[in-house]
Amino acid sequence: MTAIPETLFTDLPLKRQGKVRDIFDFGDTLLLVTTDRLSAFDVVLPDPIPDKGKVLNQISVFWFEKMADIVGNHLVTTDVDTYPEICHPYRDALEKRSMLVEKADPLAVECIVRGYISGSGWSSYKKNGRVCGIQLPEGLKESDKLETPLYTPSTKAEVGDHDINISFEQTIDILGRETAEKIRDLSLEIYNKGAALALEKGIIIADTKFEFGMLDGEIILIDEVLTPDSSRFWPLDDYAPGRGQKSFDKQAVRDWLVNSGWDKTPPGPRLPREIIDNTARTYKVIYERLTGGTL
Ligand SMILES: Nc1ncnc2c1ncn2[C@@H]1O[C@H](COP(=O)(O)OP(=O)(O)OP(=O)(O)O)[C@@H](O)[C@H]1O
Ligand SMILES: [Mg+2]
Repeated sequence: MTAIPETLFTDLPLKRQGKVRDIFDFGDTLLLVTTDRLSAFDVVLPDPIPDKGKVLNQISVFWFEKMADIVGNHLVTTDVDTYPEICHPYRDALEKRSMLVEKADPLAVECIVRGYISGSGWSSYKKNGRVCGIQLPEGLKESDKLETPLYTPSTKAEVGDHDINISFEQTIDILGRETAEKIRDLSLEIYNKGAALALEKGIIIADTKFEFGMLDGEIILIDEVLTPDSSRFWPLDDYAPGRGQKSFDKQAVRDWLVNSGWDKTPPGPRLPREIIDNTARTYKVIYERLTGGTL
């Protein structure tokens, strides 16, 4: 099991490196490669987590298929044999951690859905009873399940900055009413279906972010879907409102980092072997529980 911190496919057309994914541009298609990089407190740590990228990639594939009756998506294939030929020498690295997708025009709105009150939503509620401008009932506790999930869109900030929350009305200004309503409704429907399915497997998906794109005049689901990187995953058996929840995927890393006294500015510290192994095992457990498959 060799971890892949970056792709180093020097003859492939690299388009961008995200915190976690390396993206290659083949014109009409993109190759999304999910590396084993791990970020915590918004900093990419020097140690990759073996097979984390395979888990994330395959969780997205799992959801794209599950949601196909709700909305089309960008997935073309995960079969390396049918990738552009120039990719074939990298088969071992690409297998299970990559997908070839249709290149769409990404819509300039990030579709965030919150089923539980946590993180920045909880901080805001404590101050003024609202989350992204939406008034909520009094008396909510941290991590409470919301009566109905909230749609709180944002726009992408420049690299390095945090995204900026915007109102639904602002998304109408950006996209037009029809598209704004459509992606709101799709986001809520996908979240509701995904969260219900995950809950049956003992995983709470507290909140998440979707992206949509336009392809041949149609709205399709792009990017990654309901992964631990785009969502908050909580273990159901540990869930109790009135406090922050354990992160299903990153808790061991976060605890260790907090105890290490690191000031959360780059570069992040090296992790002890046991934390890396433990986290790799946790990602595997999440994949197996959720999908019923083995990696
Ligand atoms: N089908 C697609 N067509 C066009 N762009 C896409 C498609 N799918 C995903 N993208 C874009 O690919 C980019 C992925 O980069 P991003 O910075 O999110 O990488 P990441 O590894 O997820 O990093 P981070 O953890 O910071 O989110 C996003 O800008 C997203 O809009
Ligand atoms: Mg991303």
